[in-house]
Amino acid sequence: MLAIDDRSLAALARARRIVIFSGAGISAESGVPTFRDDLSGLWARYDPMELATPEAFRRQPEVVWGWYEWRRQRVREAQPNAAHQVIAQWQQDAGTQLSCITQNVDDLHERAGCSQVMHLHGDLFASFCFDCGTAYDDGFGGQHGLPSQNESDGAVPPPQCAHCQGLMRPGVVWFGESLDSEILRSAFEHSEQCDALIAIGTSGVVQPAAALPQIARDAGATVIQINPQETALDGVTHVNVRAPAARALPLLYARIQEEKGKNEA
Ligand code: OAD
Repeated sequence: MLAIDDRSLAALARARRIVIFSGAGISAESGVPTFRDDLSGLWARYDPMELATPEAFRRQPEVVWGWYEWRRQRVREAQPNAAHQVIAQWQQDAGTQLSCITQNVDDLHERAGCSQVMHLHGDLFASFCFDCGTAYDDGFGGQHGLPSQNESDGAVPPPQCAHCQGLMRPGVVWFGESLDSEILRSAFEHSEQCDALIAIGTSGVVQPAAALPQIARDAGATVIQINPQETALDGVTHVNVRAPAARALPLLYARIQEEKGKNEA
């Protein structure tokens, strides 16, 4: 059963503006590894924190591009899970404005039917030129196919820019880079103005994204977390649901609907 106190449940049932703030853990049950999971197989010897930087790309562009090709392939093979689906359904509820802010670069929220997703850390399937910045929204993802994990070291040379022959890089935010200011501004605004924020599957350690639950709480919102592990957000949230997202979120949503039904009766 879902451990949530009556007061928080009532606040969720009353909430008109809801923010979902998701991280890699929401896609874990779809088979997409989280950022801080150990990589398996071919990529086991790499630390993701050392591949996701401009310096790594400068040094070894084919290794970094190859890693993103592998990640794109994993995401293409994955399907949205019950947590992604409930969020999309919730967005359709009359009288509720639900905004989805994600740190994820996958497209599983969209494939579940969620709209206007704010991707704080970019999009795995977009690319732009490392030299001149020209954007290519077809992402070049998959043009090269997945290198055979048995025969190859996973390296794939990045495609070249049609304008300047520079190297293409993935359209994601790397360590040391700034977030898109418009998306960040909008995420801050939604968090400040919401009645409830639900943080799902994030370790809450990467700023500025990790500040959103505190911003919501300071502005008076009820803040809930769904995560099977302890996180850096535990002290910020009113309720910590220690369970996997695909199990806990449908239960939470059902409890909220039940509570709303009681209020209407
Ligand atoms: P992390 O990999 O840091 O954390 C994933 C969280 O998901 C952990 O707290 C897990 O306990 C939790 N988790 C695992 N399985 C879960 C499940 N089934 N249901 C719910 N939670 C589960 O991922 P993020 O917090 O998203 O940034 O990482 C934040 C950012 O750090 C990423 O966006 C990326 C990375 O560096 C950039 O690339 C800029």
